[in-house]
Amino acid sequence: MLKVRGLEAGYGAGQVLHGVDLDIGAGEAVSLLGRNGMGKTTTVKAITGLIAARGGRIMLEGAEITRLPAHERARLGLGLVPEGRQIFPNLTVRENLIATARAGRGAEGSGEKWTLERVHELFPELAGRASTAGALLSGGEQQMLAIGRALMTNPRLLILDEATEGLAPMARRRIWEALGEVLDGGMALLIIDKNVHDLLKLASRHYIMEKGRIVWQGSSGALAEDAAARDKYLGV
Ligand SMILES: Nc1ncnc2c1ncn2[C@@H]1O[C@H](COP(=O)(O)OP(=O)(O)O)[C@@H](O)[C@H]1O
Ligand SMILES: [Mg+2]
Repeated sequence: MLKVRGLEAGYGAGQVLHGVDLDIGAGEAVSLLGRNGMGKTTTVKAITGLIAARGGRIMLEGAEITRLPAHERARLGLGLVPEGRQIFPNLTVRENLIATARAGRGAEGSGEKWTLERVHELFPELAGRASTAGALLSGGEQQMLAIGRALMTNPRLLILDEATEGLAPMARRRIWEALGEVLDGGMALLIIDKNVHDLLKLASRHYIMEKGRIVWQGSSGALAEDAAARDKYLGV
């Protein structure tokens, strides 16, 4: 589904990514781990087209997307829940959800079709707050809204950058439950998160980044067993 080879990217004069290789299969959940500042967000920005790749290639279902603008990549099936949620604070929950509905693949996408009703089913918390401004939601509800908004584009691959950051345990659990349901529906997931323990259950394969490079990759079983790698690269 997604194949990244030798990806290089950065900001201004500074190079952050030094040749990142990454593969995600159809319907697969994969995690991208690593300490702060190692290049995880930069990787998803380069994959989704929010910053330009300076080298390497990005393929989505066999088609090269390396130089396509971000909205084209979204149309082809890349969905992003960005770091910090970035919902529209002055729009209502419903307006936030329908704002992106036309950007994605729509009915031509494989798997289920995401609608307002389907998002409300996944997050009943949002259904009762359809007319509430985004800014008035709790942190957990804002995160649900950010995920719902990305789902409304009907992506093939949903990328989540620190989706449970700053949430209380209960809200965090709701997010993991919902992502499990989305995964069961056949969507592929690339998840960046600090909660390795939760990721071992949800994702089947894991990549660890250090200083703009992938330094470890393996299955949940391999990561669970490799205390040395967890200690060295994640400090957990
Ligand atoms: N907008 C930016 N301008 C300049 N440098 C940045 C910017 N965003 C991130 N960086 C730098 O790029 C490196 C990787 O950051 P980032 O990809 O956000 O890491 P992570 O998501 O793993 O915490 C860090 O050294 C960070 O300071
Ligand atoms: Mg980040």
